[in-house]
This record gives sequence, structure tokens and C-alpha cells, in this order.
Amino acid sequence: MLRVAVMVSGGGTNLQAIIDAVESGKIRDTKLVRVISNKADAYALTRAKEHGIEAVAVTRKDHADKEAFHAALLAALDEVKPDLVVLAGFLVVLPPEMVQRYRGRIINIHPALIPSFCGDGFYGLKVHEAALARGVKVTGATVHFVEEGTDTGPIIAQKAVEVLPGDTPEVLQKRVMEQAEWILLPQVIDEIATGRLKIGG
Ligand code: GRF
Repeated sequence: MLRVAVMVSGGGTNLQAIIDAVESGKIRDTKLVRVISNKADAYALTRAKEHGIEAVAVTRKDHADKEAFHAALLAALDEVKPDLVVLAGFLVVLPPEMVQRYRGRIINIHPALIPSFCGDGFYGLKVHEAALARGVKVTGATVHFVEEGTDTGPIIAQKAVEVLPGDTPEVLQKRVMEQAEWILLPQVIDEIATGRLKIGG
């Protein structure tokens, strides 16, 4: 049984896709052991609770400094001994100690085809605004291992999505989620859980 912790900051539609896939058996041999958010009011936490998954908020403002915040985030993970950590819209630069301790066992979903539209500052709608501004005809989503840099780790899987005439950033974001993110992330977790994709180095 793969023990998975999911880290989130927002609405949690990717988290929902993972929960649904576990419940329907599309993701096999997996237990979602904890959802951790850096935002106390993240709707993702409600989604977790509604499905009987432990939901924990670890916020910067509840801690005296960045070091204490980082230590609390790491402790929230260590307590549940996850085999895999999934970043599903987690908008915090990971503490270096977390990357070191869980190296090869942290994956992230990015809403573009890396190496396009990634790195510092490319998150949320900004990614899709940049794709439209550049005029690309194809974008998509990428699941990758997390290293120290932003969006720099080895690529695990990518899925392309067409950009259509008249797209707004919001419309494109929705299409990328529906046609790529919500499919790709559960697929990769299932591959890890069933041993088709080896993690941990
Ligand atoms: C997704 O687009 C994800 O790729 C990005 O942040 C967004 C999170 O959305 N990193 P949600 O919270 O899963 O709905």
C-alpha cells in the first residue's frame, strides 16, 4: 500500500481527481494518509475531510519565522511517514530539508509543457497568460520529480492540450485541467503504486 501525502494551497481540483481515482480503483494500492495546506481556508482541506482524509493546515502566520514554518511543514509530513509526497497546487517553495529528506519521492504537477512557461513566477493563471501571449498552439501539463530549483526536476509524464482561437487564460486553464492535469497526476500515482514507475532515486 503506497502511503501518499498531498500538499495543496487552493481549491484542490487536482486533489479531488486523486481522491476520485483512489475511490474508483483507477489508482490502486494507495492510501491518502494526509492532506497538508499552507492556507487554513483552502477548499482542498474541506474536500479531504469530506472523504475521511486527515486534513492539516500549517500556515506561515502561525509561526514566528520561516524556519519554524518549514520545521512544522516537515513535521506534518514526517508524522505520517509517506512513501510519496504529491504537490497538487502547493504554492510554497519547499524547504531544502524537505527536498533532501524526500528526494525522489516528491512529485509536482505543472500546468504547461516544461521547459516552457515554468520556473519562478509561473504559477496559476500566469502560466496560461504567458502561453497565450507567446502564441503557442499547444500547451499541456507536466508531472515531474521535485528538486531544489523551481520546476527543474526530472520529467515523469506530459500531456499536450490544444490552444484554441479566442482562448482566455481562464478557458485555457480549465481545458488544461480537464484534458491533462486531472488525468495525468492520477495515472502517475497509479504507476508508482503498482511499481511500474520506481521512485526514491
Ligand atoms: C493547477 O493548475 C496546478 O497545475 C497548479 O496549481 C493549480 C492547482 O489547482 N500547480 P487545484 O487547487 O488543484 O484546483
